[in-house]
Amino acid sequence: MAEVKQVNVENPERFLREKKMTKEVLEAAFQDACKKVEQLYEDMKDGLAFPSHASKDNVYERDNNDDGWSQGFWLGLLWLCYEATGEEKYREMAEPYLESFYSRIKEKRGVAHHDMGFVFMPSCVAAYKLTGNEEAKEAAVLAAEHLMTRYHEKGGYIQAWGAVGEQLRLIVDCMNNIPLLYWASEVTGDSKYYDAALSHAKATMANIVREDASTYHTFYFNEDGSPSHGSTAQGASDDSCWSRGQSWIVSGIPLTYKYVKDDSVFPLFEKVTNYFLNHLPEDYVPFWDFNFTDGSGEKRDSSSAAIAACGILEMLPHMKDEKLKAIYEGAVDEMMYSLYENYSTKDVPESNGLLLHAVYSIPHGIGVDECNIWGCYYYMEALVRMLKGTKAYW
Ligand code: GLY
Repeated sequence: MAEVKQVNVENPERFLREKKMTKEVLEAAFQDACKKVEQLYEDMKDGLAFPSHASKDNVYERDNNDDGWSQGFWLGLLWLCYEATGEEKYREMAEPYLESFYSRIKEKRGVAHHDMGFVFMPSCVAAYKLTGNEEAKEAAVLAAEHLMTRYHEKGGYIQAWGAVGEQLRLIVDCMNNIPLLYWASEVTGDSKYYDAALSHAKATMANIVREDASTYHTFYFNEDGSPSHGSTAQGASDDSCWSRGQSWIVSGIPLTYKYVKDDSVFPLFEKVTNYFLNHLPEDYVPFWDFNFTDGSGEKRDSSSAAIAACGILEMLPHMKDEKLKAIYEGAVDEMMYSLYENYSTKDVPESNGLLLHAVYSIPHGIGVDECNIWGCYYYMEALVRMLKGTKAYW
């Protein structure tokens, strides 16, 4: 367990400039994004297809809801449009898709992994929160129950990948899966989900953050539950900092705070966030790994900026340090303006995505310099949070 040293924001002035995401710009960005969601729906609606996890030449292909971790984001986009506009047409687009989530968890199709939160929160929890859909609630509770089967009692963490008991590791992304467990405790009254989620959050925060406030992507434990070592799957190397991994911790800590309300997480949240901000290149959108910066010629991961923006927006209302709060508000403004101006598809009519220049995984050679569906989702979530003050579905 590393003692994480203090990290302050270097060059705070770059985040304290005049705000660019004015109401008008936000409104324009949101309207553009809604149009793109409708364009994507036109390409998906026959046979209720799902967008592929990443685009090909900036166009999503048609996929199904049988495996993987990213299908929930498609419904999340539709629900965000519905909530933010109040227009029934978006609800009518989203609702027919719910059945595939229900059957997926009932039949245990493509659920041999920890990504139950990503799959079932923006889809089914959102449907339940917005429309009171009981079947969607049942599907999400079943998904939470299933996630519990991956909880390692001795180590107090949720095993990410592989058959249960085989790959004894957690990954940083799971900080965004555990809100499903906190939520399941709220709706069922059974505290076992909350206890597992909090234990996992503590195991992650204690082990995945290095001394300099960067993160490992994945962290292994021994059979007896004691911590072993960090490694990567999607970063540049075991000791580098995968930028989306860092954005998962920046957004994940606030989601645990949302349910647990334990102020002791603030110092760690600020250190990992400051690390993230200190590694932003000139245009405020990270390269895919923080090993790289301006001049490297490496690819960006625009989804990393969008995810971090949502995490900071979640935490801002609870922050007491007014100076740091102003820096974080400015950072969200700069990241979002850059995404809108330089990465959105507003001037790319042939694309059915919302956000260009993301990376799924360079080591696996998938979704490199393409739209990815979570990048599009979190970009929209951040816009809706900024414009309407809504909180999304985590
Ligand atoms: N959660 C998987 C990823 O971020 O690629």
